[in-house]
Amino acid sequence: MLFMNGSYDNAPIGVYDSGLGGLTVWREIRRALPGESLVYLGDGKNCPYGSRPREEVRRLADDAVGRLVAEGCKLVVVACNTATAAAIDFLREKYAAIPIVGMEPAVKPACLATRTGVVGVLATERSLDGELFRRTAAKYGDGIEVLTLPGRGFVELVEADREQTPEAEACVRAALEPMLARGADQIVLGCTHYPFLRPVMERVVAGSGVAIIDPSPAVARRVVQLLDRDGLRAAPDHRPDYAFLSFAGAAYRKRLEEKAFESMS
Ligand code: DGL
Repeated sequence: MLFMNGSYDNAPIGVYDSGLGGLTVWREIRRALPGESLVYLGDGKNCPYGSRPREEVRRLADDAVGRLVAEGCKLVVVACNTATAAAIDFLREKYAAIPIVGMEPAVKPACLATRTGVVGVLATERSLDGELFRRTAAKYGDGIEVLTLPGRGFVELVEADREQTPEAEACVRAALEPMLARGADQIVLGCTHYPFLRPVMERVVAGSGVAIIDPSPAVARRVVQLLDRDGLRAAPDHRPDYAFLSFAGAAYRKRLEEKAFESMS
């Protein structure tokens, strides 16, 4: 089968995050595009990004995307809401030769689905005070109360592989209960680490009719669209390869790889 402009490209897709979180996007891309090679870069050395100054996050994102471009990636996904909020325009301008996909705060589907008129958004401090989030909330949140809260401790719990602990449940309850008490019936996960806490979140909201929204399947669909638009799909006989990179050294790189394949099972 030939795609739109009749060409193929076997170069990998790059996926980048401050740490392990972007693996929740990596797994959706792998599901949607099982024939594509992927290179995942989890910074690790500078994680968490969540409360660092915007300029610093932009510099870190530049280093990471520059590395993925140097690896020959045909498209890069910034699988980090914080880096998207701080740097997406800058990255698209600087690396204009390839498509760059960022994270969309999933405020639109939440505002369309709410029955109570109250939507909760969990994200890092830097994402919530960014222009991207403000614009999206203003565009779709008309007449809807959009409650925002940083997921305190969430990124650290995931980085420490402690998402199935009583401590994780306490952190999740502390964030979700005030939103539920104010009537939120949609909870948007605005940080790519947070879907790893979803099983705990589902336990906390069980029976309340509250929906948890993870934007990563929509991001994977966007990647599919762009590959087709630009004739960038891998050839049908291509054997996909999965590579993992980090600025934090070999042990962290190994953790990325293990967590990636664990998260697919
Ligand atoms: N996973 C990232 C995000 O989506 C960054 C979290 C962090 O490093 O604080 O925002």
